[in-house]
Amino acid sequence: MNIVILAAGQGKRMRSDLPKVLHPLAGKPLLRHVIDCARSLSPQRLIVVHGHGGDTVRQAIDAALPGNDIGWALQSPQLGTGHAVMQAAPLLDPTVPTLVLYGDVPLTTRDTLVRLIEAAGPDRLALLTVNLDDPTGYGRIVRHEGRIVRIVEHKDADEPTRGIREVNTGIMVAPTAALERWLAGLSDDNAQKEYYLTDIVAMAVRDGVAVASAQPAAAWETLGVNSKLQLAELERIHQRNVAERLLDEGVTLADPARLDVRGTLACGRDVAIDVNCVFEGEVTLADGVQVGANCVIRNARIDAGAQILPFTHIEDASVGAGARIGPYARLRPGTELGADTHVGNFVEMKNTKMAAGSKANHLAYVGDATVGQRVNIGAGTITCNYDGVNKHRTVIEDDAFIGSDSQLVAPVTVGRGATLGAGTTLTRDAPPDRLTVSRSKQHTVESWKRPQKAAKAAK
Ligand code: UD1
Ligand code: MG
Repeated sequence: MNIVILAAGQGKRMRSDLPKVLHPLAGKPLLRHVIDCARSLSPQRLIVVHGHGGDTVRQAIDAALPGNDIGWALQSPQLGTGHAVMQAAPLLDPTVPTLVLYGDVPLTTRDTLVRLIEAAGPDRLALLTVNLDDPTGYGRIVRHEGRIVRIVEHKDADEPTRGIREVNTGIMVAPTAALERWLAGLSDDNAQKEYYLTDIVAMAVRDGVAVASAQPAAAWETLGVNSKLQLAELERIHQRNVAERLLDEGVTLADPARLDVRGTLACGRDVAIDVNCVFEGEVTLADGVQVGANCVIRNARIDAGAQILPFTHIEDASVGAGARIGPYARLRPGTELGADTHVGNFVEMKNTKMAAGSKANHLAYVGDATVGQRVNIGAGTITCNYDGVNKHRTVIEDDAFIGSDSQLVAPVTVGRGATLGAGTTLTRDAPPDRLTVSRSKQHTVESWKRPQKAAKAAK
């Protein structure tokens, strides 16, 4: 199988400097959805026809998929879908059929394409068609005694032909040697002065090549993106599909319409997700995890029974079993929390390992730290990890107690079982099992009196 993805169109109606096929759906460029689906069919050759936006499209894909084996064909100027496939022709393996996909049609499923490929077999032309209530703008499938005889573009169609509701989705499979021959015979003698790929249908009929068709399981599989409105509509369809799959798997969603998954979300049993959560990259929620409202979780593993309370932000981090995080916690990259840890409101952690049973419940910054087990980090604690040039580590050993409002000026170690008095500015290591406190002694000024308001001078 050769697969050719047409992606040279400009997408004027997006009103954007970014080439249309690079606009993201579920956090991933439209074209990557098509490439990923194409890849799942293990084609011998995968070719993208690009044009508008020059090399931007190619560079973006190469950056996202380094070392890929995609063939690129430049189409400049863009003279129609037939002309686009012509540019890819020299890169095709003539001994296997060619599947044509559109780079701006992101939601086609593998199953539907497999059915189309089966309908084509080794030597038939096969079209993916769909019946629409409003077929305006699409190429119409003209049948004679049930058999497809040609496609007529909307702009070239007369009134009776415009009445046909079966339309061309643009996705098709063709025997490659014949395809190349047909492409060479295309003309641009039509309403749009373009070389129409759709004209190969009548040529196949003329040559006695059977024309088959298949239909997608759902009409949205064939919807394309031409505007921000259509992009937003497809995003909602995609998110609805993701939500339905999660519900099927037994995940509880407070509202399937208020969940966004931009990547992969793997869930165990009895996972519950409240409204307005966003999951990005690869996220795993183990059995019994609960995620509160308005959380953003990216590239993270949350172990069994952990609770992520509302408005928590987690990125490139892992959370141990039974932990309780948030509300309003922020776990930044490199944070690894052990079992039964607690991280409470307005606590920021970065590049920090915190072992089982430790807590930082209120208003703290813990960065570049290694925290042992059963440690209590008091409210307002700050690891001063940055001296303006370099970052340094703070080590807090098992069972230490960090009094509220302490600053730990790294590099520094708090020994096992040590206690820091509240307000300590720790600049040297605190020995194990002792109280270390740096604040000045409290004293009371006996002679002090509160100032009195001066009496106003009489006028
Ligand atoms: C095309 C089909 C029409 C079908 C419709 C489905 C033709 C002649 N018509 O029409 O039968 O109903 O799609 O949406 O094929 N492209 C290029 N280079 C070009 C022109 C287009 O790469 O020179 C790409 C576009 O980026 C897009 C795809 O081909 O991904 C389809 O192009 P578009 O202009 O949308 O075709 P339609 O006129 O809508
Ligand atoms: Mg179109």
